[in-house]
Amino acid sequence: MIILCDLAKLAKRHLLGAGRDLRRSASLCYDSPRVIRLYHVSKVYPPRFTALSDVSLAIEPGEFVFLTGPSGAGKTTLLRLLLGAETPTVGQVVIGGRNLVRLGRRGIAKLRRSTGMVFQDAKLLPGLPVLDNVALPAEAAGESSKEARRKAFALLRDLGLKDLVRRYPRSLSGGEQQRVALARALVNEPGLLLADEPTGNLDEESARRVVELMVRAHSGGATVVLATHDPQLLGAVSGRQITLRAGHLVDGGAAAE
Ligand SMILES: Nc1ncnc2c1ncn2[C@@H]1O[C@H](COP(=O)(O)OP(=O)(O)O)[C@@H](O)[C@H]1O
Ligand SMILES: [Mg+2]
Repeated sequence: MIILCDLAKLAKRHLLGAGRDLRRSASLCYDSPRVIRLYHVSKVYPPRFTALSDVSLAIEPGEFVFLTGPSGAGKTTLLRLLLGAETPTVGQVVIGGRNLVRLGRRGIAKLRRSTGMVFQDAKLLPGLPVLDNVALPAEAAGESSKEARRKAFALLRDLGLKDLVRRYPRSLSGGEQQRVALARALVNEPGLLLADEPTGNLDEESARRVVELMVRAHSGGATVVLATHDPQLLGAVSGRQITLRAGHLVDGGAAAE
């Protein structure tokens, strides 16, 4: 799949006249996913609350990983460390051989462009229609406004959300908003998709459709890390479970053989 994606991307870049079908299939290809390693990571929030304590773990490229554990276990903190939004107090976070602590602001900005993140609440911008909400990260990554919209439209179409493109977030259901948020997280074709309890506010059917989109991103080659304590989700997709409790890793830290 990844090889096919690479070929499609190459063709898109070099053959201006590439057929519509090729461009269509290229819209669900992701950056090469990278190896993720945490070495003895602790996170202490000031003044002295330990949210993560000596966590070491490995996630291989293309894995689908559930991050589980009760509220307060440290799931969000771990995702924020992977996003480069927090720095570890102790230890190293290494993605694709790069130590995030040493990356600097530019390096982190670059990393963010190849990382998609979805939150429990969709966090869409209320003043922009769906198409613009999804196009925004592509523009921020340097695409022209026209190209960003073209990409956003192709992705929304591929994800079955075409009918929503002109709607404003407040007119969408929670489930629709969350699927749009997922499209926004995928528009730059990230190698890593992080999702923080994205189905926490949704009914069962909407949750299923959101998870379906994450599974598609995973089949397109992305590594997916999904924080949830919903047992139904855990049963719905096959993936490794990493369990945290009160900041400690209690299970699943090593990558599957
Ligand atoms: N910015 C912060 N400042 C202080 N404490 C925090 C901060 N963020 C999270 N915490 C605390 O760290 C612990 C872990 O939080 P979090 O990572 O959000 O867990 P989870 O996502 O598993 O519910 C919680 O007890 C929380 O109150
Ligand atoms: Mg959380």
